[in-house]
This record gives sequence, structure tokens and C-alpha cells, in this order.
Amino acid sequence: MSPSYAHITGWGMAVPDKILTNHDLAKMVDTSDEWIVSRTGIHERRIARADQSTASLAAEAGLRALQVANLHPGELDMIIVSTSSPEYIFPATACLVQDRIGAGKASAFDLLAACTGFVYAINLGAQAIKSSAVKNVLVIGSETLSRLVNWKDRNTCILFGDGAGAFVIQASEEPGGVLSAVLRSDGSGGDLLSVPGGGSRHPASMQSLYDGLHYIQMNGREVFRFATRVMVEATQQTIESANLTMDDIQLVIPHQANQRIIEAAARGLDYPMDKVMVNLDRFGNTSTASIPIATVEAIEQNRLKPGDNVVMVAFGSGLTWGATLIQWSGPLPYRRKVSPRKVQWFARTRSLLARLRRRIEGILWGRE
Ligand code: ACO
Repeated sequence: MSPSYAHITGWGMAVPDKILTNHDLAKMVDTSDEWIVSRTGIHERRIARADQSTASLAAEAGLRALQVANLHPGELDMIIVSTSSPEYIFPATACLVQDRIGAGKASAFDLLAACTGFVYAINLGAQAIKSSAVKNVLVIGSETLSRLVNWKDRNTCILFGDGAGAFVIQASEEPGGVLSAVLRSDGSGGDLLSVPGGGSRHPASMQSLYDGLHYIQMNGREVFRFATRVMVEATQQTIESANLTMDDIQLVIPHQANQRIIEAAARGLDYPMDKVMVNLDRFGNTSTASIPIATVEAIEQNRLKPGDNVVMVAFGSGLTWGATLIQWSGPLPYRRKVSPRKVQWFARTRSLLARLRRRIEGILWGRE
């Protein structure tokens, strides 16, 4: 059997239209544009409308990625949605996406590694492809963290934004694609960044709501120190494991949490900032969605081209951190143009029919 490589062949992003600026925030909490920009680099972020959710943004980003890859949703073998703000505790947001886009033969599950989740998801998908278990994987990072933020807490509400980004990963015999990865965790720091309420430890109750346990809680200074250290380590380790050096890397796409963390990491790596992708000024920290959103913008700005070596590196709650080195490719050659969006009508009809069938079966079996 010929070796299988895992190539990124499609990419897409979806962000809400609604913009929340630092000036808007200064009317809500005791802060200022000057403070937020100087401490984080963030100017504005996107906030989901009431009718938008983690699943709807994920499905839109996924469809756009399929469009670029020229892949029919029915060809997907696996959908991984990385998120810390899932639609529900269960079912998995990935299953809602599977139903919406009409991916009839795909497995679907969520992955929770906070802001590192997309790096984890790329590697899970790539490993499944390299083992020859599957051929076509859709990985999505999607968040509506605005729903978990305490809008009265100036320590956290200035940081986060909503959005989604997606990659299609496909098998190919051409060398390249996902070359290496390091994925790490340290649960002893779990309390530094958490949403403690609503799970099995602190089930939702009047008391948990009163105590605000359903909101993001964060020790910013500790997270900051941890982040600057692990971004450098993980980048160096993933490059070394591919037998390359920083000189071989054309672009670094870091998790977009804080301009100062990114600059400190670039200094630690002795790597020029003009080869580091930054767009957090316009989107804030979209957690696991930040890397694919930054990737889509890097491609649009012609900063990432086929053949380039790119490192994606992230850190987040868990604690988790990781990096992956990818030789960038692009869509696989194809004979016929497909339109992933056109099957959405069929997907909705199929979904309705499946619900109807279960209802009728329930009535019939229920009578016996
Ligand atoms: N406006 C004005 N003042 C503020 C604000 C604000 N929005 N927030 C905090 N302050 C005050 C603090 O109360 C503090 O005042 P004090 O000294 O009187 O107590 C002072 O500003 C300095 O606070 P610090 O916490 O030391 O500020 P710092 O320079 O560390 O910046 C920040 C805070 C931006 C949160 C920074 O620590 C950071 O970015 N940390 C990393 C956070 C992060 O990346 N989290 C996401 C991880 S990814 C994931 O998994 C979701």
C-alpha cells in the first residue's frame, strides 16, 4: 500500500457581522480603548446574533472549506468540531453540523482542548488519514464564547470574540501536508482558566447561577506566563521532529490571544514578526477558531502559498498546548466542479424525513 499523506485542501471561515469595539466595552465596564489596546492588541471583536450559534457558524465555515476543496459533503468520512462553547453538553455539535451539511457517511464528534483544540483536531484527522482508516476529514474550530463571558467582568470580557474556521484534510500519495506535531497537557493548571458550572462537578442550580459558575474564570497573569513559555517550546519541538529549523519556516500562525504573548514568543524564537500572522486586533480571542480564521486571512493576503512550511501553535485551558508543522498544499486535482452548498436542501429534507420516520416508528411500536 502506498504511503498516505494528509494535505490541507480546503479552508473557510465564518464570523458574525456584529462588531463590538473597545469603545462599546468602555460603556459597559470600567475600562478604556487605550488600556485594552496596550495590554492585548485587540481593537474589536465579533459577537454572534441571537439566531447564530456554535453549530451554525461551524456549518457555514465547513461548507466554505468544502467549496475550496471541491468536495461533496457526502464524501466526508469524519467531522471533528473543536469547541469550548458547544451547542449542548450533548449531543455533540459535530453531529448537528453533520446533519446541516448533509454528510451522510461521516462519523462526527467534538473535541475539547480549549484554544489548542484546532491543533489537536488537525492531528487527529491527519493521523486517521495516515493510518489509511479514512480519506476525507473536516476539522472545524467554532466558538460563541460571548455566551460564556460575564459582561460585568473587565478581566475577561475584553478578550473574547465569536467565530469559526475550518480545514478539509484529504489523503494523497504526494508527499507534504501535515508533517509533524507536538500535543501536550498539564491538568494541574486546570483552575487557571475554566467554566466551573453546568457540568457534573457543579450542576446548574440557583446557587451555581448566583455564584456565577457558568462564566469564564481566569487568572490572566498566570496564563500569560505559561503561554509565553510553551509557545516557544512547542514550536521548536515540532520543527525539530521534522528535522527542519526556523529558517525553513515561511509563516507562523499562533493562537490569537494577546499581541504581547505573540511578540514574546517571536522574540523567544528569534523569529521576525513580519513572518507571524496576527489578526487579533479585529477578532479578539476566538479560542479554537483563531488559527483557522487567521489562516484564511493569511491566504487571502497572499502570505501563505503552496509549498510553504507553516507552523500553527496554540495554548489554552486544560492546560493544553501544542504545535503542528504543515507543508501547505491546496485543492487536489479534480475533473468536475461540485457545489457542496446545493446539497443543503437535500440535507434538510433528509433530516426532516428521518425525524418523521422515527415518529411513525414510535407510534407503531408504541402501540404494541
Ligand atoms: N481595563 C482596565 N483595567 C483592567 C482591566 C481592564 N479591562 N482588566 C484588568 N485591569 C486592571 C487589573 O484590575 C489590575 O489592577 P490592579 O493592579 O489594581 O489589581 C491591572 O489592570 C493590571 O492587571 P493585570 O492582570 O496585571 O494585567 P495584565 O497586563 O496581565 O493584562 C490580561 C491582563 C490582558 C488578561 C493578560 O494577563 C492576558 O492576556 N493574559 C492571558 C489571558 C489569555 O490569553 N487567556 C486566554 C487563554 S486561551 C483559552 O483557552 C480560552
